[in-house]
Amino acid sequence: MKFFIDTANLDHIQEAQALGVLDGVTTNPSLMAKEGITGRDNILKHYQKICEIVDGDVSAEVISTDFEGMVKEGEELAKLHPQIVVKIPMIKEGIKAIKYFADKGIKTNCTLVFSCGQALLAAKAGATYVSPFIGRLDDVSTDGLLLINEIREIYNNFNFETEILAASVRHTMHVVNCAKIGADVMTGPLSAIEGLVKHPLTDNGLKKFLEDAKSLAV
Ligand code: E4P
Repeated sequence: MKFFIDTANLDHIQEAQALGVLDGVTTNPSLMAKEGITGRDNILKHYQKICEIVDGDVSAEVISTDFEGMVKEGEELAKLHPQIVVKIPMIKEGIKAIKYFADKGIKTNCTLVFSCGQALLAAKAGATYVSPFIGRLDDVSTDGLLLINEIREIYNNFNFETEILAASVRHTMHVVNCAKIGADVMTGPLSAIEGLVKHPLTDNGLKKFLEDAKSLAV
């Protein structure tokens, strides 16, 4: 399973990249706003900075909601850097834009997916990634992981090449369960990635090994 980090924070991206397990980055307008990035030029520069830090795909979201606007924005974003993936919302105009970009060989990430029907449509249109938001489903007492499971089954039935990008991951158990189900990618905060390291038995075990090592006089 690929690990993407879901942030526009350059320090967090650098930290995850330094771990050596990072495969890409996802951003959205809310994450850009959180970092105080404003103005089209600054936003584009920020995407470029992100692409310089990581080796993999970097999702950059369009703000337009009509086909022509999404195409114009998406083409501008795609030209920025070969690693850019155009992130497009799951709406009717978005489906048309995904198909347009698929025909041109430009990668897309279909975002704001909350149902199997939406995921099926995204795959039919040729999306590179489909992003079911599991945390936001859990927030409204609906099983986000069940959705990943069902999409996996549908995509396997027809050998769809669209990758399931489990989004809105909030914690380590989301990551582990997505891996069990067979999500192709997960995107989450740095804490969800670094949290995988933690186990008290590891810490206690290492403490004891280091204490005993002192008696070895090496
Ligand atoms: C997906 O790519 C989104 O950026 C993201 O995962 C949304 O997560 P949130 O529900 O924590 O905002």
